[in-house]
Amino acid sequence: MIIMISRKHRHHETAALRLGMWWLACCVMALSSAVQGEEIFLEWHVKIDNTIKPVSVNQPVITINDLFPGPLINATTNDNVHVNVYNDMDEPLLMTWNGIQQRLNSWQDGVSGTNCPIRPGTNWTYVFQLKDQIGGFHYFPTINFQRAGGGFGPIRINNRIVINVPFPKPEQEFDLLIGDWYGLSFKKVRVTWGADYFPDWILMNGKGPYHSPFSEAHESFNVSRGKTYRFRISNVGNLWSINFRIQNHKMLLVETEGSYTNQITLDSLDVHVGQSYSVLVTADQYPADYYIVATPKWVNLTKPNAIAAVGLLHYDNSTESVNGPLPNGPDPFDIDFSLNQAQAITLNMSTGGARPNPQGSFNVTNVTLSQTFLLRGSLAVIDGYPRYTVNNVTYVTPSTPLKLADQFLNGSGVYELDAFPIHSSLPAPVNGTFVVSGTHKGWLEIVFKNDLDMIDSWHLDGFGFFVVGFGLGEWTPEARSTMYNFDDPVVRSTVQVYPGGWTAVYVYLDNPGMWNLRSQNLRHWYLGQELYIRVYDPDPNPAKERSPPNNLLFCGAVQAPPPPPPSLPLPSPPPPKAVPVPSPPSSAAVKTSHIGWLYVVISCSFVLLSSGVQINAS
Ligand SMILES: *[C@@H]1O[C@H](CO)[C@@H](O)[C@H](O)[C@H]1NC(C)=O
Ligand SMILES: *[C@@H]1O[C@H](CO)[C@@H](O)[C@H](O)[C@H]1NC(C)=O
Ligand SMILES: *[C@@H]1O[C@H](CO)[C@@H](O)[C@H](O)[C@H]1NC(C)=O
Ligand SMILES: *[C@@H]1O[C@H](CO)[C@@H](O)[C@H](O)[C@H]1NC(C)=O
Ligand SMILES: *[C@@H]1O[C@H](CO)[C@@H](O)[C@H](O)[C@H]1NC(C)=O
Ligand SMILES: *[C@@H]1O[C@H](CO)[C@@H](O)[C@H](O)[C@H]1NC(C)=O
Ligand SMILES: *[C@@H]1O[C@H](CO)[C@@H](O)[C@H](O)[C@H]1NC(C)=O
Ligand SMILES: *[C@@H]1O[C@H](CO)[C@@H](O)[C@H](O)[C@H]1NC(C)=O
Ligand SMILES: *[C@@H]1O[C@H](CO)[C@@H](O)[C@H](O)[C@H]1NC(C)=O
Ligand SMILES: *[C@@H]1O[C@H](CO)[C@@H](O)[C@H](O)[C@H]1NC(C)=O
Ligand SMILES: *[C@@H]1O[C@H](CO)[C@@H](O)[C@H](O)[C@H]1NC(C)=O
Repeated sequence: MIIMISRKHRHHETAALRLGMWWLACCVMALSSAVQGEEIFLEWHVKIDNTIKPVSVNQPVITINDLFPGPLINATTNDNVHVNVYNDMDEPLLMTWNGIQQRLNSWQDGVSGTNCPIRPGTNWTYVFQLKDQIGGFHYFPTINFQRAGGGFGPIRINNRIVINVPFPKPEQEFDLLIGDWYGLSFKKVRVTWGADYFPDWILMNGKGPYHSPFSEAHESFNVSRGKTYRFRISNVGNLWSINFRIQNHKMLLVETEGSYTNQITLDSLDVHVGQSYSVLVTADQYPADYYIVATPKWVNLTKPNAIAAVGLLHYDNSTESVNGPLPNGPDPFDIDFSLNQAQAITLNMSTGGARPNPQGSFNVTNVTLSQTFLLRGSLAVIDGYPRYTVNNVTYVTPSTPLKLADQFLNGSGVYELDAFPIHSSLPAPVNGTFVVSGTHKGWLEIVFKNDLDMIDSWHLDGFGFFVVGFGLGEWTPEARSTMYNFDDPVVRSTVQVYPGGWTAVYVYLDNPGMWNLRSQNLRHWYLGQELYIRVYDPDPNPAKERSPPNNLLFCGAVQAPPPPPPSLPLPSPPPPKAVPVPSPPSSAAVKTSHIGWLYVVISCSFVLLSSGVQINAS
């Protein structure tokens, strides 16, 4: 028996730690009969770089290991990812993993309600499993408007080898992060309460538009005629939805945020803030160079395509450079185009996703709702400042993360559960720490209503939305029988809501924790358009919800470590034949104490020696 463990993700660990991790990985793989993923270790140095100047402006850009965008997390279903984040910036930092469901583990979610920030000059290690997920996602910093300065990057969760993907293996995959960009410092934008400035650019993988005199570089992808490529596109921007298209090329939409869709052929694709899609593009044109374009939606432009991200699709042996105008997309104010496309994006019920059984086997055809929330997003003025609200409540971030308050203080002094309305708006806007109870293992219907003159998008951590309906104008309960798609709604984590319209989703609340429900529009989020859903199960069994990690950070009202639990006796060294089986990572926190490591190393040595396992480190 030969066990091969990839080394591709390891950097800079100490030799001893690496050895320990190796042996643990071996041990888990050798001893656990369940389907467990690999251990992926990443070390990230997050800092501010003033030399990148993506659009020739001297501005701070947040880099990870000197990269902008940050490095790819390339993983497979059920892998365990360990990201040791060093905050080398001059301000606090938190990273979130957008769309990663953090099963039973909101401790790793990296938003202000779940984690204390990583202070400047310190590091903190996130450890999470990509449990039962596939697809394309992205990560970004969550506090202090930092996403407007960078710090984002792509995540791929590949199918396990035993599970078929519902399309032929592409020749190559490209990650494509697109987002609007300010031509000035994010630190300057945020002190104006995020409200005064509009973005000046749209960047493609951190690069300015092709042929602009301001661009330091432009993005380009090499393709060979006759081959098919997968583009994993995410909108990592701040405010604007985008329309994405490739000159003279069709796109086959295949996946969104972890669901394989019914495949549809598109000329252009709307990607709203925080969303991710995979499209297949076949290089079936005359070998030349072609424009790759993203333009903003619902924005008045002086000329069409005035603010466009522009990259190139470059065929092997192309001798013709691009010429002529950029390919036009739909009218940016054509909501019917966008709505019709959204309604055509449905779930392929018959294909497997992260598991071999069909994606559609868990569905909404016959569910009984436990709860309905009607959430109205709007703009208000509080104390003379613009604030974005949900049901006329603007979220105020307490200095103690909600999750810590819950664990150690029963919430007291930090938030009051269910203090604000979830079916209607308050008559006047208020400040509030909006936390609402979600019924564990209940079906929740959320209707998002958008009172803004702007496309909004909403995201829930911890779950997927079954996107059952979109509408323009007011929602009424009759919409359930006349406008909902119960047959094959797509399952995703970020959904758009059209100006003046509504979007309805169903969510199955099977994941206990403290979960952020937010506008992905950075300005709306930063100025209060968010709340938390507390899904609570009184059963303290850690198989239901994980206990806090060993490296838990404290802040606010939970300063001192809580009294230690009754100490457990240390395990005695095992006798040669008695082999303890380590708990699979899906149900137990990864052990980090040295004694724990030593114990694992010793016990694994016995296992490996006695079973003659060879380790091939190539
Ligand atoms: C990502 O991982 C998959 C599966 O291990 C591998 O086939 C692929 O080459 C990797 N891609 C990159 C860009 O590292
Ligand atoms: C900080 O990094 C060191 C290794 O350089 C690691 O041992 C330690 O666990 C990390 N701290 C946290 C809180 O993750
Ligand atoms: C793309 O092709 C050009 C030559 O046509 C080559 O110079 C360049 O290095 C290639 N880029 C990549 C990323 O392979
Ligand atoms: C490009 O040109 C090279 C050398 O002339 C040739 O070997 C290759 O097959 C060509 N590629 C395509 C896709 O035509
Ligand atoms: C776009 O311009 C029109 C006409 O000037 C105006 O009525 C509309 O409010 C503008 N929309 C946005 C989103 O700026
Ligand atoms: C759904 O997935 C199956 C593979 O299980 C595939 O054969 C079929 O073409 C897909 N349907 C659509 C509409 O994409
Ligand atoms: C939907 O789920 C039910 C069980 O709740 C199952 O019987 C049915 O086959 C599923 N529908 C599809 C299309 O898979
Ligand atoms: C639908 O759900 C109801 C109540 O949960 C149940 O009695 C009924 O058998 C279900 N119907 C189908 C077709 O599954
Ligand atoms: C915790 O707070 C809730 C109200 O939010 C209360 O019902 C419960 O009794 C409290 N539990 C303890 C142990 O204080
Ligand atoms: C929210 O508050 C504002 C200001 O008092 C009020 O005009 C508005 O009607 C309220 N919104 C709703 C939906 O009641
Ligand atoms: C609302 O919260 C802000 C802090 O976010 C604070 O400055 C302001 O005084 C609060 N206003 C009221 C009316 O409580």
